[in-house]
Amino acid sequence: MQQRIAQLRAAFSKAFGNARNTTITKAPGRVNIIGEHTDYTDGYVLPIAIDRSVLVAMRPNGSSTVNIHSVNYDQSASFDLSAEALCENAQWLRYPFGTAKVLQARGHVLEGIDAAVEGNVPLGGGLSSSAAIEVAFALAYCAASKLDVDRLTLAQLCRTAESQYAGVNCGIMDQYVALFAEKDHALFLDCRNLTHEQVPCRTDAVKLVVSDTGVRHSLAGSEYNTRRAQCERGAAFFARRIDGVRNLRDLASEDVNTFGQDLESPVLERCRHVITENARTMAAAQALRQKNVYQLGVLMSASHESLKNDYEVTCKELDLMVDIAHELPGVFGSRMTGGGFGGCTISLVAGEKVDDFGKALAKKYEAATGISPHIYVVAAENGAEIL
Ligand code: GLA
Repeated sequence: MQQRIAQLRAAFSKAFGNARNTTITKAPGRVNIIGEHTDYTDGYVLPIAIDRSVLVAMRPNGSSTVNIHSVNYDQSASFDLSAEALCENAQWLRYPFGTAKVLQARGHVLEGIDAAVEGNVPLGGGLSSSAAIEVAFALAYCAASKLDVDRLTLAQLCRTAESQYAGVNCGIMDQYVALFAEKDHALFLDCRNLTHEQVPCRTDAVKLVVSDTGVRHSLAGSEYNTRRAQCERGAAFFARRIDGVRNLRDLASEDVNTFGQDLESPVLERCRHVITENARTMAAAQALRQKNVYQLGVLMSASHESLKNDYEVTCKELDLMVDIAHELPGVFGSRMTGGGFGGCTISLVAGEKVDDFGKALAKKYEAATGISPHIYVVAAENGAEIL
């Protein structure tokens, strides 16, 4: 971390003359243990923050302009805080721009800043690089303009920035966990009430392993929004038939069996995924509380099957990565994580088998696809902070 900070300060100095009086904010990526595509229908999720993060070095510049140098893209870009839309083409600028806009729309007056940003969350890999950028900038704007905005509001504003300025009508999971995560705990979040429980999640005996398929399918954004619309259709269907049902979270598998024959495909399958996934996520939180890794692993693998067959957000590389993992010794469970259509899997692996697991998984996956995958052990880290 010290090295990353030093490099970030050097980049800031190069772009803006010197790095005196800079404030550094940090926001983590996340990996979701289970509870996939449940957050936007009031459901449950169980993510952790990881030690991959976005860092922003920032200094107020006394103007109404935000000047940003991106270390990853080796590009500089600017916008005026009074602008309604971006003139610059840089795609990455949408996130800091959107975050500024939603804070302003809430009535906050922002100061211009100079900023350098750097991240090591794999882009588009399902580990929530975009929420990390939004949250890191939200903290930077608040620090620059001396705003005291509570974390729940920040999570909600950053979610709005993602949907209004990056075009993905996402749920609250990523921004929430980036702000509320605690080291050595998984965050069991109720996305309706926006309340959470920190569930202890640390053991040397069992490790969480992220494996990046190396593929990113451009479908991710458009298909995401389609899934969400299908869920809304399904929720309206059930709400018309069952008293007290407001969203898919209020349903049980039996409701799908009882009423499902009148629901068109694929809305039926989408609803079945969400409803069974909520049940799995609650069971997984309980398994984690009881340190029952066998049960947790079974639930994770069942989640993948459901995402593959009912929700149809996997792809052949994700399915292959999970299939290979299941053949290897010491694996309790494995599944895709994040939005899908490429990106990463997460596997629950016995501690003493982790090294062999990583090597064998990489070898077999590369033999089948020609892609050498990045594989790394993750642990639960703290949420966003000012360093
Ligand atoms: C993306 C979204 C989240 C969530 C996941 C799927 O990461 O940003 O809100 O819906 O996909 O679980």
